[in-house]
Amino acid sequence: MFTTNELLEKINRHISELKFTRQPEGLYEPVSYVLSLGGKRIRPLLMLMAYNLYKEDVELIFSPATGIEVYHNYTLLHDDLMDKAEMRRGKSTVHKVWNENAAILSGDAMLVLAYQFMAACPSASLKEVLDLFSMTALEICEGQQMDMEFESRKDVSEAEYLEMIRLKTSVLLACSLKIGAVLAGASQEDADRLYDFGINLGVAFQLKDDLLDVYGNPEVFGKNIGGDILCNKKTYLLIKAFERADEQQRRALSFWIDADTYVPEKKITAVTALYDEIGVKNLCESLMEEYTFRARAALLSVAVSDERKQALKELMEQLMFREV
Ligand code: IPE
Ligand code: IPE
Ligand code: MG
Ligand code: MG
Ligand code: MG
Repeated sequence: MFTTNELLEKINRHISELKFTRQPEGLYEPVSYVLSLGGKRIRPLLMLMAYNLYKEDVELIFSPATGIEVYHNYTLLHDDLMDKAEMRRGKSTVHKVWNENAAILSGDAMLVLAYQFMAACPSASLKEVLDLFSMTALEICEGQQMDMEFESRKDVSEAEYLEMIRLKTSVLLACSLKIGAVLAGASQEDADRLYDFGINLGVAFQLKDDLLDVYGNPEVFGKNIGGDILCNKKTYLLIKAFERADEQQRRALSFWIDADTYVPEKKITAVTALYDEIGVKNLCESLMEEYTFRARAALLSVAVSDERKQALKELMEQLMFREV
């Protein structure tokens, strides 16, 4: 069995050796650019770790592992356009370095490339893998659409928010784990338990991402702090802030949400101050803990020795303390 770092090094090396040599360069340069910026590579890592619970020949699934990372990076190109984000992994986003059409079209190309990589998985599981991957990709579109629609709504409930992040984020972590298990020939029960682990891990992961968007260290986070506040994203922080605000705080929050013209820095400072006053950071952290607890329970039920599952458990804990 490999250590987490060994698997990470293997997949990073594999991805860094990919060459996109087709023409026109303008289509493929943004692909190489975004993939060269790294990121945590958490999805291919989860796929390899799930596979490695059962089998040692991890190089057999480097192609689908690459596919899941290329797919994730495609979602980031389009997400940054939709979220008007100018920074990603400490660098300018594709639509800033090139232009909006480049982000759309290079993103489209990456979605197709992702399918090519995914389809090069061991053939015995091809249909199951592609069916799961396609359903997941559709669900992510659904989650992203909800995320966009919520920007202009003020009555988004906690349950709606949780469903939205399950779709936009959790299903891809869950799909990565399940594909790893399926390719390793794990039992249906284990594959489903790993999927369940990924769903709960993913909710905690997105809650942490929302926290970092407000409270992250700008030196290391790699994205602009306060982006969610500027877009009126209905994060758990904002939903809880409205729910717990007194009359005056509610008016102040509404003022900033409804404002058409404002100095971005002022809005971020004011809304963050309201979050602090109302005390929503702790609530978000408690919910994260609840979901990591559920994830741990799901992992516990996977029919593999505790020793072999230890690395996945540790990775989950590390992700909850991450700064990027
Ligand atoms: C960013 O994903 C999008 C979310 C689902 C929060 P990651 O936080 O995994 O981004 P990278 O790949 O490490 O940059
Ligand atoms: C991530 O949501 C979901 C997808 C990219 C599908 P965010 O919009 O919060 O991700 P970041 O913060 O830009 O990475
Ligand atoms: Mg975004
Ligand atoms: Mg987004
Ligand atoms: Mg975010």
